[in-house]
Order: sequence, then structure tokens, then C-alpha cells
Amino acid sequence: MIILFIGDVVGSPGRDMIKQHLPELKEKYRPMLTIVNGENAASGKGITNKIYRAFMEQGVQAITMGNHTWDNREIFEFIEDAKNMVRPANYPEGTPGKGIMYVKLNAMEVAIINLQGRTFLPAIDCPFRKADELIAEAKKRTPFIFVDFHAEATSEKQAMGWYLDGRVSAVVGTHTHVQTADNRILPNGTAYITDVGMTGPYDGILGTDRETVIRRFLTNLPARFEVSTSGRAQLSGVLIDLDEKTGHARKIDRILINDDQPMFY
Ligand SMILES: [Fe+2]
Repeated sequence: MIILFIGDVVGSPGRDMIKQHLPELKEKYRPMLTIVNGENAASGKGITNKIYRAFMEQGVQAITMGNHTWDNREIFEFIEDAKNMVRPANYPEGTPGKGIMYVKLNAMEVAIINLQGRTFLPAIDCPFRKADELIAEAKKRTPFIFVDFHAEATSEKQAMGWYLDGRVSAVVGTHTHVQTADNRILPNGTAYITDVGMTGPYDGILGTDRETVIRRFLTNLPARFEVSTSGRAQLSGVLIDLDEKTGHARKIDRILINDDQPMFY
């Protein structure tokens, strides 16, 4: 089973890259499941109902989120009805939305879990213990379990990968917006990458207008960050191949589309 995961879609440049490249990626790799991290899809800050529905119409079956889930207040109006969206599961009891969802694929089913790290991010509940709890629940239904771990620290992401090795099909990191080259299959069959990278502006700084960020470093004065919309764009993702019987991963490949590596996929 092939899963295509596309990392943090940032603003309209990211959404345009999905529009432009998702059809050809689907055509070429025939993923059974396409998942997108959408936490920066609305001008870098959260997601709107319209964008969520546009992703669904483009053939995305699941949207994962992160620390920017709540930045666009529209989320509170539709998150309970957004069946194919997960926000980090380790937010406190009573937080709107859900942290685990299931996608049916013929006779199979894939559980998708979203978790958020706590290092250099808000101190929410423990993602490791929450993972234990949700994996126990998901295992009753399916051997296919996909985890998007939205976290800042490489160490916390690696710890999650090793902690879940053999218990889930994949642990992919998101949030830091630069693709890491450490994609691998851990010894007990879990596909792992520290960060998938982001899909959006290629000539900004992590997707943000670079002049604003540079000025902030030079002056330390507060600045309003906007998505960089004037330059080129990139797409970052991974393709994961799972064994249909065991749910373990056979392969994880990186996808990186930008002007410097147009032939990477
Ligand atoms: Fe992000």
C-alpha cells in the first residue's frame, strides 16, 4: 500500500503547488492514501473550511494539523464536521476536533494520528503516553497506523520514532519546514523521517517573507509575518510503501520539487 504524505502546505503558494503537482504525483505513484498537513494552508495560519473542502475535492483523504490549528478562528465553526481532519491528539480533554481518524480503503483501514511535541512548543499533554493510548485503540481495528508528529526538536522526533518502532507503520515529522535526509525504515518496521519539509514559498524563510524575518533578526523589533508570495514555490513530501499483511513499512522515499531539484521525483 502506497501512502503519499505532503508536508506543511503554506498559504496560496503551497496550495498552488498541490493543484499543479498532485495530479501527476497520483498518476505516477498511484497512492491508495494521500495525506496533507494543512496547518499553515490559510495564509500560513491555520485552515479555512473552503481550503479544507478544496483539498478533499483534489483527492486528499486526510488533513493533519499542528500548533497553528487554531490560528484562523473559522476552525471552531467547522472542525467538528471536518470528518477527514485530525488536530494534535494530546491537547487537553474537551478540545474541539479529534486526534485520530480512520480512512477505509476497500477491505483495509488506515488509522491516522496527529501528535504535537512539547519541546519549544506549548506544554500540552504527553505525546508519548497519548500515542500509547491511541495505538492500543487503533490496533483493535487495523495494523496500518500513520503518525504525523508535529514537533520542533529533532531529538523529540527521533525519540518518538524509536518509541513507536514496530508498533506503527510510519512516524513522519512536520513543523520545521525543511526536509531532512534521514528517511529510513527502523529495525522493527516503522518508516521514519524527522521532517517532511514544507510545500510553499521557496524564496522565503520557512515560508515567510524573508525581508521581514531578516529585519526582525537585525532589530529585534516585533514584526508581522506574512507568507512570501512573490518568489518561486516548492513541494515536499514522502512516499511510504507498506506491507499489506503486517502494516510494516518496506520503503520511505522523499519527494522534493523545486527549481534546484526538479528531477528529484
Ligand atoms: Fe507548519
